Amino acid sequence: MITKLSVNINKIATIRNSRGGNTPDLLTVAMDCERFGAQGITVHPRPDERHIRYKDVKELKPLLHTEFNIEGNPKEQKFIELVLENKPTQVTLVPDGLGQLTSDHGWDTITHKKYLSEIISVFKNAGIRTSVFVDADIKMIEGALETGADRIELYTENYAKYYSDNREKAIAPFVAAAKRANELGLGINAGHDLNLQNLNFFAKNIEGLLEVSIGHALISDALYFGLENTIQLYLRELK
Ligand code: PXP
Repeated sequence: MITKLSVNINKIATIRNSRGGNTPDLLTVAMDCERFGAQGITVHPRPDERHIRYKDVKELKPLLHTEFNIEGNPKEQKFIELVLENKPTQVTLVPDGLGQLTSDHGWDTITHKKYLSEIISVFKNAGIRTSVFVDADIKMIEGALETGADRIELYTENYAKYYSDNREKAIAPFVAAAKRANELGLGINAGHDLNLQNLNFFAKNIEGLLEVSIGHALISDALYFGLENTIQLYLRELK
């Protein structure tokens, strides 16, 4: 089984937006990521449009040939409409708040079961695969099943944070969470702070890992190695 690499291109939009023009060209970068071997493109539009704009999503959709993954918080009606209009391969639901620097926690799938179930059925009825962002917590994985989601995305910040201290210990909750997800028939994605140092160990130990979405480290590495080489380096870690 291969683990797909979905490149999160938010950072490209951040650089572009910092000068008000169209450099770097987000659409070209996305198509180049695919050309260089990425098996997916991820975008995370936020209501303030400080990086990916809603317009970017509309423009990207017809150009992409790999898996298009849109992440975001469905509490914004605008987000729901954007996803339904653009019909990505997958929508990943993330409980981030307004103005949050980046995602920093998964869903409480038990407290928000009813809400998540309702919105997930809207997306599933539109033929869109659904994934919910969760911490490596068995109860939250079991809760995710109850929402009807197709997949979970494991929030890997704590793995990345403690990797260099003790990688066996850092990955243990993720191995347990993945085991439970596999037993329940939930697909497994992962993301946040994955990088060239910690990716291979994660992918090797997480059974059934279908997709990783990586942005910050990959774009930073591309400054040194170039985008094409960097994507190859990440793909090599997933083999
Ligand atoms: N998954 C989710 C839900 C995210 O919000 C992000 C960051 O936008 C990522 C994955 C990618 O994280 P990173 O940029 O640290 O690779």
